[in-house]
Amino acid sequence: VLALAQLAMTYGDQAAVNGILADGAASVLLCATSQEATHAWTAFKNGLVRRGLRPGQSRYEMPRRPTVLVAAEASPTGRATTLRTADAQLSQPGALVLVTDDLAGLNGAMARLPVTRLAPLCADALVWALRQTHSATGKLSEDALRAALPADAALARMGTALVGLALRERGPLRVARKLAELVAPVAPDTDGPTLEDLPGLGEAGPRLAQIVTDVAAYRVGQLGWGEVERGLLFAGPPGTGKTLLAAALARSLGASFFPTTLGDMQKRDSGGSKVTQEMSALFDSARAATAGGGLAVVFLDEIDSFASRDRPHDHNTSYFTSVTNTLLTQVTEALDCEGIFVVSATNFPDHLDPALIRAGRLGARIDVRPPTVRQIPGVLRYHLGDDLAGTDLAPAARAAAGLTQAQLAERVTAARRRARAEGRAMSLDDLLV
Ligand SMILES: Nc1ncnc2c1ncn2[C@@H]1O[C@H](COP(=O)(O)OP(=O)(O)OP(=O)(O)O)[C@@H](O)[C@H]1O
Ligand SMILES: [Mg+2]
Repeated sequence: VLALAQLAMTYGDQAAVNGILADGAASVLLCATSQEATHAWTAFKNGLVRRGLRPGQSRYEMPRRPTVLVAAEASPTGRATTLRTADAQLSQPGALVLVTDDLAGLNGAMARLPVTRLAPLCADALVWALRQTHSATGKLSEDALRAALPADAALARMGTALVGLALRERGPLRVARKLAELVAPVAPDTDGPTLEDLPGLGEAGPRLAQIVTDVAAYRVGQLGWGEVERGLLFAGPPGTGKTLLAAALARSLGASFFPTTLGDMQKRDSGGSKVTQEMSALFDSARAATAGGGLAVVFLDEIDSFASRDRPHDHNTSYFTSVTNTLLTQVTEALDCEGIFVVSATNFPDHLDPALIRAGRLGARIDVRPPTVRQIPGVLRYHLGDDLAGTDLAPAARAAAGLTQAQLAERVTAARRRARAEGRAMSLDDLLV
């Protein structure tokens, strides 16, 4: 219904729609994302094409049924197939409307078709749609509703999944309040270490510092967003600080942070939405956080749990395929959006879907390892704080060779505990066990 409202705003009046659907007419409707394209296509088919009939007229009396096709990442048939069908339809007498999120694939005659951009979501469209869907009587207090809704500029940036979350609320006013809540700016979390605070980062140190420098250059207009490395994969054994590193990167960038795992999304799944919707909503939130020049880091932890699509078939294959496909689409679209980083982490870099970690997606792999003996004193110092101030930690480092960051943290905690239990100050010996 909402997409229908957007279509109405796009084309203006029934006469314009009739023009689009007249025999011989052919046009392209351009949408911002593949989800939006799919919604617009559904609305077109269910709403406009059927309503295009005059009252009392049977659809068999229509000269010809217009063909409405959708070419987008999430389209039912592949993009290439749809484009071929559309191209063939051009030589047919019936009308053609191609709904797409990308003009790049259109060649030849298709490339010369008139293009209309789908009107962005706005308060007018929402008020109209809520009247249809959320009000039994069609009456609602429009003034209160408009006052509660976010500004049109914010609505225009909301993705369909985020709007979908809000539409699950019961009354129109609650939908409006939920929308306002969902677009409220997310403050970057400042509680925790930044990259500069973390010792022993190895390869990750200079790679991530470069990103922070590049973003500073981007902010003053010296570097295009396209030049900034923004699709990352942290690969390394458990306890080496991958999760901490992602949060630290977000803090160093002053970015809003959107961490998730497949498990998190499955937990929220119980609310009736699907994992794919949860995922889309998360990416929508990140997009909303970039309104007004903000930055957002989406963090996909334990990304190996989104199984590779080429793994052996079992009863869950189709579930995982749809989740992985959504992930691919969302990652690709997010990386096209100025201000968004997608960071992922895994203990099993070899188990990932190759399409996910190719260049242009999460192609920037950064190996995260346990610290070297030379780096260990820094890591111990980080956890010791002011304890053992001035003590040379090299002997403790030699005794801890090969331990991960998490194990070193645990060693310091154990040392503190032992000293406390024995009612004395901590000594270097406590770290040598
Ligand atoms: N660079 C670091 N310096 C000091 N301590 C660190 C560092 N990185 C991580 N740690 C310590 O190690 C702990 C575990 O880190 P984290 O949870 O980020 O590891 P991980 O690589 O995500 O592990 P897993 O693969 O099991 O999820 C942190 O809570 C922190 O105490
Ligand atoms: Mg982790």
